Amino acid sequence: MVSYKELGLVNSREIFKKAFEGKYAIPAFNFNNMEQMQAIIQACVEESSPVILQVSSGARKYANQTILRYMAQGAVEYAKELGKNIPIVLHLDHGDTFELCKSCIEYGFSSVMIDGSHHSYDENVELTRKVVEYAHKYDVTVEGELGVLAGIEDDVVAEHHTYTQPEEVQDFVSKTGVDSLAISIGTSHGANKFKPEQCTRNADGILIPPPLRFDILKEVEKRIPGFPIVLHGSSSVPQDLVKIINANGGKLKDAIGIPEEQLREAAKSAVCKINIDSDGRLAMTAAIRETMNQHPEWFDPRQYLGPARESLKTLYKHKVVSVLGSAGKA
Ligand code: G3H
Ligand code: 13P
Ligand code: ZN
Repeated sequence: MVSYKELGLVNSREIFKKAFEGKYAIPAFNFNNMEQMQAIIQACVEESSPVILQVSSGARKYANQTILRYMAQGAVEYAKELGKNIPIVLHLDHGDTFELCKSCIEYGFSSVMIDGSHHSYDENVELTRKVVEYAHKYDVTVEGELGVLAGIEDDVVAEHHTYTQPEEVQDFVSKTGVDSLAISIGTSHGANKFKPEQCTRNADGILIPPPLRFDILKEVEKRIPGFPIVLHGSSSVPQDLVKIINANGGKLKDAIGIPEEQLREAAKSAVCKINIDSDGRLAMTAAIRETMNQHPEWFDPRQYLGPARESLKTLYKHKVVSVLGSAGKA
């Protein structure tokens, strides 16, 4: 068992409190490999932002649990070497079992999500409560979820959103003891969040998706005042990246994300954590495809992973400065 404290990581309690009071959100960027981690740390150090390094169960299998533990420790030391000891959380994204959460805690995670949203309400409460009980013994913070996002989540495909029911949140939070709550208000995972027929077109012909359900968010805030809320599925799917991918052999169709203005608005509310994975995937893929297309003779991975890392860094800096408002808050 290694404590996250020995690795120099922090849990999410203090940074969420500050984010709530300061009306901004902490970025939760998913990572699977070294270049993504380096780009996240470089961007957040340069912009002086706290950050949540987020690992899905798939990412954990891909990267290996032991390697991840040292990568997280490396991230902390790397940030210091770059000149700023920013708060860094290592968080399990969409944990689906008690055993997975327990194992992550034993390997140095400072925060875990137990996603019981696909279970019945009572089963969700029971599973979440059990994880909280274990995690709090080690001062690890826990994120729960109420409501189901449309799209693919943990290999479960939901055709429609099941929006969070505000009447349930108070009971859920008090029975489980969670430290933050992910809610469903119209975001979804992946790069195809809306079908074109769900959108309207503005004067320039740009597709505008239906707005997030801020009315539900407000109702939730009323019932659990001051409580940190989490938004999953918050990539904006930048169309310039989609164009680069498709101009260089990619085949992304109807890729539509959450408009950044809406995320900016959410970040000013009780939303203290905003999850972004797909935009990073797009930035990386666009840079790799473009580089390979422009230099078909190159075969050193550094030649295309280097530009990919730069592109990721640019994206992350933009997010913390212009979308989440966490720049300068470390
Ligand atoms: O919410 C899911 C995240 O985007 C992680 O995706 O399970 O493919 O690593 P993944
Ligand atoms: P995106 O697919 O919108 O980036 O969402 C990521 C996420 O919610 C990870 O949990
Ligand atoms: Zn998610």
